[in-house]
Amino acid sequence: QPIHLADYQPFTHLVDRVDLTFRLDPKATRVIARLNMAPNPVRPGRHDLRLDGEGLRLIRLAVDGRPLACQPDATGLTIPAGDLPGGTFTLETEVEIAPEGNTALEGLYMSRGMYCTQCEAEGFRKITFYPDRPDVMAPFRVRIEGDMPVLLSNGNPVAQGPGWAEWDDPWPKPSYLFALVAGDLRAHSDRFATRSGRDVALNIWVRPGDEDRCAFAMGALKRSMAWDEETYGREYDLDVFNIVAVDDFNMGAMENKGLNIFNSKFVLASPETATDDDFDRIEAIIAHEYFHNWTGNRITCRDWFQLCLKEGLTVFRDQQFSGDMRGHAVKRIEDVILLRARQFREDGGPLAHPVRPDSYVEINNFYTATVYEKGAEVIGMLKRLVGDDGYGRALDLYFDRHDGQAATIEDWLKVFEDATGRDLAQFKRWYTEAGTPTVKVFEAWNGGEAGGTYTLTLAQVNPPTPGQPEKGAKVIPVAVGLLNPNGDEVVPTQVLELTGPVQSFRFEGLGARPVPSILRGFSAPVILDHDRTAEDRAFLLQHDTDPFNKWEAGRALAKDILVRMAATDAGPGTRWTQAMAAVARDGSLDPAFRALCLRLPSEDDIAQTLHAAGHVPDPARIHAARRRLALALAETLGADLPGMIAALVPPGPYSPDPEAAGRRALGNQLLALQTRLDGGEAAARRFAEAGNMTDGIAALASLLEAGRGQAELAAFEARWGGDRLVMDKWFALQVAHAAPGDAAAVAERLVAHPAFDWKNPNRFRAVIGALSANHAGFHHESGAAYRFVADWLIRLDPANPQTAARMSTAFETWPRYDADRQGMIRDQLARILASPGLSRDLGEMAARLMG
Ligand code: ARG
Ligand code: ZN
Repeated sequence: QPIHLADYQPFTHLVDRVDLTFRLDPKATRVIARLNMAPNPVRPGRHDLRLDGEGLRLIRLAVDGRPLACQPDATGLTIPAGDLPGGTFTLETEVEIAPEGNTALEGLYMSRGMYCTQCEAEGFRKITFYPDRPDVMAPFRVRIEGDMPVLLSNGNPVAQGPGWAEWDDPWPKPSYLFALVAGDLRAHSDRFATRSGRDVALNIWVRPGDEDRCAFAMGALKRSMAWDEETYGREYDLDVFNIVAVDDFNMGAMENKGLNIFNSKFVLASPETATDDDFDRIEAIIAHEYFHNWTGNRITCRDWFQLCLKEGLTVFRDQQFSGDMRGHAVKRIEDVILLRARQFREDGGPLAHPVRPDSYVEINNFYTATVYEKGAEVIGMLKRLVGDDGYGRALDLYFDRHDGQAATIEDWLKVFEDATGRDLAQFKRWYTEAGTPTVKVFEAWNGGEAGGTYTLTLAQVNPPTPGQPEKGAKVIPVAVGLLNPNGDEVVPTQVLELTGPVQSFRFEGLGARPVPSILRGFSAPVILDHDRTAEDRAFLLQHDTDPFNKWEAGRALAKDILVRMAATDAGPGTRWTQAMAAVARDGSLDPAFRALCLRLPSEDDIAQTLHAAGHVPDPARIHAARRRLALALAETLGADLPGMIAALVPPGPYSPDPEAAGRRALGNQLLALQTRLDGGEAAARRFAEAGNMTDGIAALASLLEAGRGQAELAAFEARWGGDRLVMDKWFALQVAHAAPGDAAAVAERLVAHPAFDWKNPNRFRAVIGALSANHAGFHHESGAAYRFVADWLIRLDPANPQTAARMSTAFETWPRYDADRQGMIRDQLARILASPGLSRDLGEMAARLMG
């Protein structure tokens, strides 16, 4: 049943052009396809033609106008070689599908009265019979017939009349980039002139009433278009660029050629309804999908094993973009927090897999943090190793050499080798081997008259992962700088290349034993194992010139303390709280940076750290320790808090710009601390006065943490009950901030709420996803949350296997915990595995989770 990379073969035939006609009907849509095909010269001999197709009612099939009697099976249709001419031919099919009943949200489906599609990875086969694989590329022409005012597909509009429209996409594309949208939609429109003078019409299509929530996304799109021209020399290549916001969507968004489709959560924003974090994410995702036009669409993937070719690179590009827009230091820290929370967690558990996997059962299960985020880290390392110029030359060569092709990781690495002369054979292990390497650090100092020598010894350990017991050494770029005891930088950042299991690096002529700043900018996705004193950490927090490592020093200090508090009965001490109080008050530091310093490591992160240190994490103790440390910080800042909070309120009307957002982030973090002292008096006032969603949500969260906020929740619901996106926040917040012993019960109560719609992925995630993310609640000793989540996955699976499978990652950390919890989780996984009619998606996940 699994598919293997090693079995790749080019397709037997070529598709020269595709003509599609859709006659839309909720229960019986007709799809008429005319494919101009030819035998593929790279596969000599006569071959049967195998087309993918699932859930299609075949009405008519003809080759060169001659009807054929072949019948489809469960996964497609085979036309015997004997029924096909030796040269080019035209294949015609007509099928019937029922978009209204499509709850899986893959293929053609309906979302609140509007038709839309999601074809990546293998959804096109639910629309028509086709070789549904990314290496089969063709220009598409699409005619849509339906009684909806707006009818959209890929490419440029060519003709339209009442009840129909025709679209032409001249750029050859794989089927996964096909899209169709039809509905009663309104456009927020604008224009963009490319630097070579193409005038592009831009539209963001939304349901009536949402037009006034599109301006920020439109601005982000124009910034993305300009940035890709300036930074990568990439221009847009059609006359129109359409974006559609859809309420029912399994993922974040999709880069269909010329017609991006978005989860409405990542398009619609106004100050009243969206938080600063929402604005950030909208900008990043708009950019991500737009950047796919070159890295994904013009150059696509040969097969789905190469998914990181487009995703890792496009994430790397959107991270660069966001850094340019909002500041690189803060962006890097946020990205690393996310990488550790999702990817390190995945890489250290039963679902660990390489950035380029070599087998899968269901490809939708591999749209993971490893493919996306670690895939981006690998590119960051490559750039560091070959330098900015080398990276620029390699990318130019990549676009030059592979435009219009379906490429592989081998092709990608070859352009770097050809452009820079560097051998990347060993580096390639980052793509083929799973697991997070640990880099151990040993220091030696040899002082002398003429100055001393400092020796840094680095050793790498590559842990076993499922199916990969042994691994080779990686190429690890370790950015290092040295500070002298006065806090001055004596050796500026240089990149040490660790290529062997152990290596030493010498620094000569130093006046005194230096304090090293290691892995600056988080130059490699590794775990740094370096026994450091609290003094050294506090010193780096104060003096490091590298903003990432400055933050990291405070973070490590907090983690050391939290680990000690959770594992023993130690108290919070004063070192971290004193240091953080100084950071909080330091007006020379960017408020956004200070906010990141003050943010405590998450409970899941503490559990991950405890596990790595050989302890069995106790979720209740972690929860208590984290609260005690926050309280200690609140007490240290004490009476200063109200004044500090007031001083941080940004002047003027709300704007999501990074400066104002940074001030709000810090102010709201201090408000959370204040709430630990005043029981919520200040937070209640802030909630009542809040003029924007960021402050309102932050105040409400603080109140819920303090065990109050019921009146505020009711007021919030009364005001926003009619707004789906805002109500998602209302649902999620209650579960996220429920006390450990109440979380499952709160979720239980919320699924009985009339507005709980389990078939809507955003709403499902808002409750069931929030429960699995409430660490102490999910892992409560009663096991109630484990059961609740498993119940809902079993219920969701038949309707929407993709989202059910994705949410099963809630259970991926089971090996960390005690025998009781392990047993309870494994019981739930066994129950899932035993469910009748289990999907391939959730079936594969549950089996891998069991190990
Ligand atoms: N290519 C999309 C993106 O990265 C993700 C789509 C994934 N969809 C899926 N069903 N696996 O933006
Ligand atoms: Zn993507």
